[in-house]
Amino acid sequence: MSATISKPKAFIVTIDGPAGSGKSTVSGLLAQRLNLNFLTTGAFYRGLAYLCRKKAVDLKKIEEVTALAYYKAFDVQADVMGTKVFIDGIDITNELSNEEVALVASQISAYPEVRLALLDLQRDFARPPGIIAEGRDCGTVVFPNANVKIFLTASLDKRATRRLADEQTISNRDNADSRRKVAPLSKAKDAIEIDSTALSVDEVVDKIIGIVKDKWKK
Ligand code: C5P
Repeated sequence: MSATISKPKAFIVTIDGPAGSGKSTVSGLLAQRLNLNFLTTGAFYRGLAYLCRKKAVDLKKIEEVTALAYYKAFDVQADVMGTKVFIDGIDITNELSNEEVALVASQISAYPEVRLALLDLQRDFARPPGIIAEGRDCGTVVFPNANVKIFLTASLDKRATRRLADEQTISNRDNADSRRKVAPLSKAKDAIEIDSTALSVDEVVDKIIGIVKDKWKK
């Protein structure tokens, strides 16, 4: 009789929350301190938004937008330093960090077909020793069995200041992300909520490291 060899498991930490709550900065520092890869799931939606614009796709045509999610030359890579998006072999990550791309991302992320197309790509990053995955539905949909789930919040004015955007723009995107039918921005039942309004980045990171260390031992 052959012995069963159990597959090494990835230790998954999810950080979800609204725009400007500090997810990216906190996740990046966590990834470096824990030496885990850092997956920004927003990069998939922003990258697809960029591709739609590049190919001049009508954003209302769901089939055409979804087809681009399967576009072979659309590639996302993640390591300890962060997530990069490539289109036709060219690194376009730096083109994605503006509110215009974010708004298109938010629009197309409401399509269930698009989310389904990107889901397996995201899950594929859950490899040992583990990952820090940040976004909107990481703890609820992408990695429901994550070892540690954090829901990061902050006041609207603090978030708008951090993003150098006006409160209305941020609040409109939050509303769209929270009200969509599929995988809306929401706190997983087993997530720990941290309000970062009055905390420094280091204080938030230290808090999460404490939670992770506690779980990692068990
Ligand atoms: O996090 P980021 O601001 O880069 O996300 C851009 C947009 O991508 C969000 O406003 C949201 O609409 C979408 N998104 C999502 N699910 C995720 C991550 C991002 O729907 N897990």
